[in-house]
Amino acid sequence: MCEMPLPGRATADLTCVRLEFGEDPQGVAEPPQALQDLADASLEPEERAAWDALRSAPRRREWLMGRLAAKDAVRHRLEATRGLAAARDAIAIRPDAWGRPRVAGPAVATAGTPISVSIAHTRGVAAAVAGETSDGLGLDIERTDRRRGDYERAAFSDEERRRLDAGPADRRVERALRLFCAKEAVAKAIGRGLLGSPLNLSVVDCDAEVTRADLEVAGSLARALPGLRGRRLTAWIGTSDRIVVAWARCEAPPVPWRAVGADDVGDPQEREPAAPSATPALT
Ligand SMILES: CC(C)(COP(=O)(O)OP(=O)(O)OC[C@H]1O[C@@H](n2cnc3c(N)ncnc32)[C@H](O)[C@@H]1OP(=O)(O)O)[C@@H](O)C(=O)NCCC(=O)NCCS
Repeated sequence: MCEMPLPGRATADLTCVRLEFGEDPQGVAEPPQALQDLADASLEPEERAAWDALRSAPRRREWLMGRLAAKDAVRHRLEATRGLAAARDAIAIRPDAWGRPRVAGPAVATAGTPISVSIAHTRGVAAAVAGETSDGLGLDIERTDRRRGDYERAAFSDEERRRLDAGPADRRVERALRLFCAKEAVAKAIGRGLLGSPLNLSVVDCDAEVTRADLEVAGSLARALPGLRGRRLTAWIGTSDRIVVAWARCEAPPVPWRAVGADDVGDPQEREPAAPSATPALT
């Protein structure tokens, strides 16, 4: 397990884990047997069924590495705070109706405490943050050399681009990436994703180097979650080993979090009815 420091404010109650599995531009997976062995040793039956159903080799690898990072982050929390040594397959990471990973499984039921987790991947790297909290956590990572073309027009409002233009010119590209990661981290902490557009989160404040950004829900996120309107959601952002890392924490997220057992991933009545079956396309 490789712990990764989180930028910004004190995070002693969180563990962030980073796993590197190598870039693979041809889309060829690691030796299939090595992946199968990892999956056999680490996944519980429901996760295993989800992994078996994935068809794309890069996606299978990314998904598995994200799960391993999440499980290791949760194991670290259980050991550090409860003295519990949990096997990876005693911790289940299951998506809720919105795709947000939730922690379940016998080890978590034994601990009897809510644990939040968030997962991110970028080419060849997976990372996850976990904490014993009912707050929503959000983590995002991106390589600084990620080429996204003219993504800024889709990602930022005119005002947000003016804010980026006003900062130091030499690191404009990285600052934009940092702001984008901040949006994705907050979107995950809320638990709804970006609902199809990064413009559904708007920047109300950030420093010149974009190490901290305060965001508010806008557009369809504000309509879907009126209780979050006007609330400042803060993301902390840093860069390490040419990877931008952003994380956020949302107190009292829209759907309450609680400890769940092996066969229980949440009370359906806690969910809102209109959960999408897949992340909507950008509009
Ligand atoms: C979740 C989201 C915010 C980020 O996804 P992403 O950047 O594509 O992918 P990342 O690797 O950073 O994160 C993926 C992980 O986020 C987590 N996730 C997915 N939906 C989530 C949700 N509603 N809440 C919290 N976490 C979520 C999952 O764990 C997922 O990994 P897994 O499927 O392997 O378990 C996505 O919903 C989204 O909106 N992406 C932005 C797409 C976009 O607007 N592109 C246009 C760019 S201009």
